[in-house]
Amino acid sequence: MCGIVGYIGQRKAYPILIEGLKRLEYRGYDSAGIALLSKDSFEVYKEAGKVADLEAVIPEKEYLQNVGIAHTRWATHGQPTFKNAHPHYSESKDIVVVHNGIIENFMLLKRRLISQGYQFRSDTDTEVIVNLIESEYKGGDVNFEIAVNKALQQLHGAYAMAVLFKEEPEKLIVARKGSPLAIGIGKEYAEFFIASDAIPIVEYTQDLIYLNDNEVAILERNKRVKVKDIYGKPKRYKVKHIELDNNMITKGEYEHFMLKEIFEQPNTLSNTIFSHLSEKEDTIYFEGLGDLKEQLNNANRILIIACGTSWHSGLIGEYLIEELARVPVEVEYASEFRYRNPIVKKNDIVLAISQSGETADTLAAMRYSKEQGATTFAICNVYGSSMAREADFVAYTYAGVEIGVASTKAFTAQVAILSLLAISMGEKNKILDTKIAQSLIKELREVPKLVAKTLEKDSTIAKLAKDFLKTTSFLYLGRGVNFPLALEGALKLKEISYIHAEGYPAAEMKHGPIAMIDETLPTLIIGTNEAYYEKVVSNAQEVKARKGTIISVVNEDDKQLANMSDYVIRVPKVADVLQPIVVAIPLHLFSYHVAVMKGCNVDQPRNLAKSVTVE
Ligand code: AGP
Repeated sequence: MCGIVGYIGQRKAYPILIEGLKRLEYRGYDSAGIALLSKDSFEVYKEAGKVADLEAVIPEKEYLQNVGIAHTRWATHGQPTFKNAHPHYSESKDIVVVHNGIIENFMLLKRRLISQGYQFRSDTDTEVIVNLIESEYKGGDVNFEIAVNKALQQLHGAYAMAVLFKEEPEKLIVARKGSPLAIGIGKEYAEFFIASDAIPIVEYTQDLIYLNDNEVAILERNKRVKVKDIYGKPKRYKVKHIELDNNMITKGEYEHFMLKEIFEQPNTLSNTIFSHLSEKEDTIYFEGLGDLKEQLNNANRILIIACGTSWHSGLIGEYLIEELARVPVEVEYASEFRYRNPIVKKNDIVLAISQSGETADTLAAMRYSKEQGATTFAICNVYGSSMAREADFVAYTYAGVEIGVASTKAFTAQVAILSLLAISMGEKNKILDTKIAQSLIKELREVPKLVAKTLEKDSTIAKLAKDFLKTTSFLYLGRGVNFPLALEGALKLKEISYIHAEGYPAAEMKHGPIAMIDETLPTLIIGTNEAYYEKVVSNAQEVKARKGTIISVVNEDDKQLANMSDYVIRVPKVADVLQPIVVAIPLHLFSYHVAVMKGCNVDQPRNLAKSVTVE
């Protein structure tokens, strides 16, 4: 999931593009490149590695060009090397392209172009696009725009791309299918900024167009944006004004975005919880839900589709909705769901959970469900993202921009929304007594403060993390709603510290994982759930009996489990169903400190990217 950025206007393009790449680096950091266009020539620089590595190879001089495109890569086709870095030239070097996505039929097209005499410099699918445009341009008396359209009509797969042609330097052409693309409009259309998301653009303008699938935009200075489909038919577009400022996209006094985002949670949870609670009566409402409310309350079944950390909050949603509203819930890995020909019925509610709102598998699974006639809900964190725009209803998690690749504040905000949803459905379905519903809402109102209190344990957690830097494998155990949390804790440790870790329902341990337990394998046990407490204590005894090291996460006043643990993290007590939000904090902090002390790049872990926009 690469990041693309582009500029056409009066300003110098170089600083805008380089800064834009740095802001998009969380989308992929295998290589980076830039192309600047002056009257009749391109200056192209690219390098394997990070944007800083690219900057290091760009000669120190003043770049006056005011048109350019740039790219930061997450390698799919072709190794993360110099030759596969974007931008890619056409054979004649008259055209350059940057691309985010995957062209599935690129081999077929490449063979055809090779038979026409085209030679290729890289192993990428992207180079096929630029040579295809050139072959269409050379092939017939068409202008550049039509050549781009003709090429797009032959592509199968996903793309967000920006193209420049040295013979038409006053034009920047961008197109989208599957992968996200935003266009920032300067005052009176004097200049345009394009990028994979709003983050590199908001510094300059907050008026954005989000392109839809199969749309192309032609950007020329001092002219209104022309949006057309890939056959040249004009399309209407909406300009969205987005509220995003620089503080949201800088680290501030924090060393890492991940730590900043962990410590933002008292605010982000307040934003998320209170934006769905009426001030006085403690009534839960989802703005714009309207008639879908009935459908939600009378749903036969709720199908939750998601990936990664969002899938974990989906699992927590299953526990909460079935427990509090008695509506059957099934949770699906979106990547499996979309291809296993699942049974989706008209009165199913399909709930897509996604921080980015752009994850390819979840988006495709949501579209499939829509085609089957189901009502689609999305829980998203990115305003204007594809899922948010395409779902029948969207509930936003107001967690603010999440830049750290490891999701933290978006996860707890998702769980807060799911808690609100379960309580509101339970009350409407008369499953949940109003008094209990009100007391849960009252407790939920307190959760941001409890999270702030839990964050005070940061230094304790940092201290105990020191003892696990050499660990090679880890087990996380939880019961009930804390089982998905054990999965989440294990995922966080895996993805940022590269220590192998597995989350398991505590009782499941005896059916296999217990074989791994000895002095070298630490086990983190979540023991805050009163309903399962005794059972968790006996699981801990089973670990202890095999000389396993135990880190336990327990309630403030815990004794039994704490006494039998080697390390104890205490968290404020809260209703069992609301615990995942509070308990997530020490799990995220623990993985953060282990990874930082191991010298890992926690904001940009190897091989990962923030938003997985390809399959
Ligand atoms: C979580 O830390 C990871 N970055 C990853 O598992 C992520 O949750 C997954 O890719 C889903 O992303 P989404 O929420 O944006 O759809």
